Amino acid sequence: MARLVTWSQYQESIGDRSGLFELLAGAWPIDRALYPGSFVDLSPSTAIRSVTYVDTDARAARFFADAGLARAQLAGRCRPGAGAEVRFLRADYTKPLDVPEGSMDLLISLFAGPLWGECHRYLRPGGWFLANTSHGDASLAALDPTLRLVAAAQHDGDRYRLDTDRLGEYLNPKRPDTADPDRIRSTGRGIAYTRTAFAYVFQTP
Ligand SMILES: C[S@@+](CC[C@H](N)C(=O)[O-])C[C@H]1O[C@@H](n2cnc3c(N)ncnc32)[C@H](O)[C@@H]1O
Repeated sequence: MARLVTWSQYQESIGDRSGLFELLAGAWPIDRALYPGSFVDLSPSTAIRSVTYVDTDARAARFFADAGLARAQLAGRCRPGAGAEVRFLRADYTKPLDVPEGSMDLLISLFAGPLWGECHRYLRPGGWFLANTSHGDASLAALDPTLRLVAAAQHDGDRYRLDTDRLGEYLNPKRPDTADPDRIRSTGRGIAYTRTAFAYVFQTP
């Protein structure tokens, strides 16, 4: 059986992102979120009512299989109404997921993509896409003319803030020739920008 890794243990390596999701849920009407490649990062559930986590990893499956454990880890940490539905799919997000198309308010891509190509179908019109550059998703989103950058998420440890001013200063490639979607997809890595953020929030039409 896979070793048990809990969210609190995982926070020792990635920190606590609850503050980020509190800001997102405070800024926009986000009721349902999809988090492909989540591992055991339960932080979205501290701020969002319904979150579907997706991962192929056996340790993630073991963590989420114990609903009582997830509930205990969230106890006393949720905004009112948040954390009510914690769903886990042990699945490969490159294949069709048991998630209705157009049903999600927020799609999360942190250190696990690029997944926009396969997973954008689950996002509703006008929904939000949170992505970082690690596996290329924010770089691909920046090149997608249908998506609009609405915030950049900055952090200092576990303290997050959303920057909505001067968004034009973000996502400007250091080397414009690297801003090529095929290249980003084939390398699975984002490109370097003149001004960086932890992650970026895009909105769909
Ligand atoms: C580096 S971890 C990042 C975990 C978490 N998102 C974070 O930011 O800490 C990447 C996770 O994505 C999962 N993953 C990668 N490709 C996947 C796929 N095609 N389908 C489902 N999960 C996937 C891995 O199993 C792993 O748990």
